[in-house]
Amino acid sequence: MQSFAFVVNGAEIVVTVPPETPLLYALRNDLALTGTRFGCGDGLCGVCTVLVDGEPRWACQLRVWEVEAKRVETVEALIAEPRHPLVTEVLAGNAGQCGYCLSGILMQARALLDRTDGVPDRAAIATALAGNLCRCGAHGRILDAIERAARTIAEAA
Ligand code: FES
Ligand code: FES
Repeated sequence: MQSFAFVVNGAEIVVTVPPETPLLYALRNDLALTGTRFGCGDGLCGVCTVLVDGEPRWACQLRVWEVEAKRVETVEALIAEPRHPLVTEVLAGNAGQCGYCLSGILMQARALLDRTDGVPDRAAIATALAGNLCRCGAHGRILDAIERAARTIAEAA
């Protein structure tokens, strides 16, 4: 076991785990941040997407030692008040069906909106989400919700 310090959703934390522990497991099992989901465990589905220093990464593919001293953001940061417009619009539009994919998609979309001036076009949103699978086929409603959230953010700027 070894201790690793990093920042999660703005809070400095320390976890004591075997160094090869996937970040996903540390988030879910040691920090009770279960919004980040386990899917394939192999970097193929995107449900475990978190931001590390603002960049979207698969938490199942990162070892805890790789995020030491870095900033990790999970979907819980978007859900906390004041709720991020992405969450508001996904809920308002019933964008998900089972919802399993949504925490990863929300984080991927957050990264896109953070790096985009104004409202990204539909193709740019779809490209950004190419690695985030939705087995329910709810992509259309999810893209709609992201577009609405982007407009809300742009209008408030
Ligand atoms: S669980 Fe990480 S990419 Fe599928
Ligand atoms: S809403 Fe079910 S996997 Fe996307």
